[in-house]
Amino acid sequence: MINTVTETKRKFNVEEVRKDFPILKRLVNGKPLVYLDNAATTQKPQSVIDALTHYYTYDNANIHRGLYFLSELATEQYENARLKVKEFINAISASEIIFVRGTTEAINLVASSLCRTKYFREGDEIIISNMEHHSNIVPWQLIRDRKNINLKVIPINDNGEIQLDEFEKLITEKTKLVSIVHISNTLGTINPVKEIIKIAHSYKIPVLIDGAQAMSHLKIDVQELDADFYAFSGHKVFGPTGIGVLYGKTEYLEMMPPYQGGGDMIRTVTFEKTTFEDIPRKFEAGTPNIAGGIGLGAAIDYLNQFDRTELINYENSLLEYATNRLMEIEGLKIIGTAKKKASVISFIIEGIHPYDIGTIIDTDGIAIRTGHHCTQPIMRRFNIPATARASFSFYNTKEEIDKFVESLIKVKQIFAS
Ligand code: ALA
Repeated sequence: MINTVTETKRKFNVEEVRKDFPILKRLVNGKPLVYLDNAATTQKPQSVIDALTHYYTYDNANIHRGLYFLSELATEQYENARLKVKEFINAISASEIIFVRGTTEAINLVASSLCRTKYFREGDEIIISNMEHHSNIVPWQLIRDRKNINLKVIPINDNGEIQLDEFEKLITEKTKLVSIVHISNTLGTINPVKEIIKIAHSYKIPVLIDGAQAMSHLKIDVQELDADFYAFSGHKVFGPTGIGVLYGKTEYLEMMPPYQGGGDMIRTVTFEKTTFEDIPRKFEAGTPNIAGGIGLGAAIDYLNQFDRTELINYENSLLEYATNRLMEIEGLKIIGTAKKKASVISFIIEGIHPYDIGTIIDTDGIAIRTGHHCTQPIMRRFNIPATARASFSFYNTKEEIDKFVESLIKVKQIFAS
């Protein structure tokens, strides 16, 4: 018999959802907070805050070590969070989920670990793109200089898009890895990572995806993408800071040596020789961020209440509305006009430094990010020093976008007078 029972999802309603995020009620500079810096970090629902408080209030103990009630309870919750991540991204096994500090550490883990194998030989190549965050550039430069390998960069067009034919032209028999961002934190571009992975795999090249931004804006299925590695941060997906995930296919994780040494990642230690635990523990030396893992699990539970498509459609409507409203402002130019975008808008206004924009609109309680967004190569590509960037989440509203636009008009008036 076909199972016709479908899970009932919570209907998305922005006003109801906003009540879940206590920070959204606060005032900044005497005005209601308008938080438009979700690409930097997302706000936390009460359920995540409660999970952290509950853990520290009632369940705190070290994991994997104690044969007593609290230690077993904490271990169970932490490992349960790993299972939630596994389900959330559709990994084959929970052992493919490595808890790390965040996306940055996930990429550094892969780079440092592979650097200690014979995987890279002198003259080999790693391909990244012009729109990478520094955390998907610098770790590869660090190993490039140790292994004498080359970094190749896929160019981007004036809209901030990667051309697949340009990517394929860069591949040679020396290419050993492709590491690419799923959604650009600066341009908002959604990269065709599935196609990129397919092309790379046709040359037997593994692909790492920096999913820091994508995790909160898209439904991620690592098996469907066929990603070899997928990295993301808890704090950008409504969870705590200091926790993140490296997903890796078993075949790679098993072949890779430990990233750090210490407790909890070993089987036996003598002064002559140490043997290591299986994955994932081989990569998790020391006491981990137990509360962070549990908090990330709570964030996943929060998101799982909804039909994610509803959240995605709503964010897309915010992106469209904000783009149209911003384009009404004379002298404002959007940097990043890809056909496929997430709700991230970088912009400049003629004659006004982005820092001034950010500082002035902060007096209206509006939080956006200004600067190079840890993507200096993008700034160079567009020949600008910095941008102002507004990034929206499903708890933002069109009214907030209106306030943001009014505040930008005020900025223009200040500079005109
Ligand atoms: N990478 C984060 C951002 O884009 C911090 O703001």
